[in-house]
Amino acid sequence: MTSLISLHNVAVEVNHQKILYDISFTVSPNQIITLLGPNGAGKSTLVKVILGLITPTTGTIKRSANLTIGYVPQSINLNPTLPITVKRFMQLNKHLKNADIINMLSMVKADYLLDKSMHQLSGGELQRVLLAQALAKKPQLLILDEPTQGVDVNGQVLLYDLIANARTQFGCGVLMVSHDLHLVMAKTDEVICLNHHICCSGSPAIVSNDPEFISLFGRQGATKIAVYKHHHNHQHDFCKKNNVNQRRIVLPNFGKDKKND
Ligand SMILES: Nc1ncnc2c1ncn2[C@@H]1O[C@H](COP(=O)(O)OP(=O)(O)O)[C@@H](O)[C@H]1O
Ligand SMILES: [Mg+2]
Repeated sequence: MTSLISLHNVAVEVNHQKILYDISFTVSPNQIITLLGPNGAGKSTLVKVILGLITPTTGTIKRSANLTIGYVPQSINLNPTLPITVKRFMQLNKHLKNADIINMLSMVKADYLLDKSMHQLSGGELQRVLLAQALAKKPQLLILDEPTQGVDVNGQVLLYDLIANARTQFGCGVLMVSHDLHLVMAKTDEVICLNHHICCSGSPAIVSNDPEFISLFGRQGATKIAVYKHHHNHQHDFCKKNNVNQRRIVLPNFGKDKKND
């Protein structure tokens, strides 16, 4: 299958500081890839490289012809003095007809918000509206940067379900940055662990019957555990530190000390 986007040895250097290096991977249609890593690892930078907002210092990026990308940003800045309804916000995409707007909002279970002010939405509602806007152009590639920031657990589960549904419905590839490993791994085809370079990547295994996982799953603020297969054996410091070379991988709670990055 032809890939949607393919990165080969991509590096980004700013002021002699290597923010990203040796980044090579592809995203294919129908594939969900989750990007995880500590704060400052370069995840958002990588997303911006893929969106074409940052030009890599070295390396190549190949995009399939006429690739359409839908993007859900890490955050949006709404001017608090300018009132704007969800409908008006969706209408900012001039190509959308009102019927399409309703359909797209229904798809993400947000049609009841049509006449509400964007300023009054909860974290989960806002993310669903942003998802509707990103899906409105029927993207071949959907990119989400920490889509569940400020969203409660029920909202997170719903959002990941909707993202998975979008993949099924549109057959799009999905690349998302997420810290919610316990929620995303069942929906993810591949995990890429990033700390300026790709420390490891692989397919997550379903661990719903793993007692240790279950005991940790519900514990708020607990260290998150993921199980996935390792594709290589290289011993990178980050991997060593986090036991990433073992079959059971104990990952730090990357989101715990999160600041507004
Ligand atoms: N334009 C820039 N100029 C200088 N440093 C930058 C720039 N953009 C990002 N960085 C730095 O690159 C690193 C990675 O940032 P970012 O991609 O936002 O990480 P993440 O999303 O994984 O938290 C951080 O140390 C950040 O300060
Ligand atoms: Mg980021």
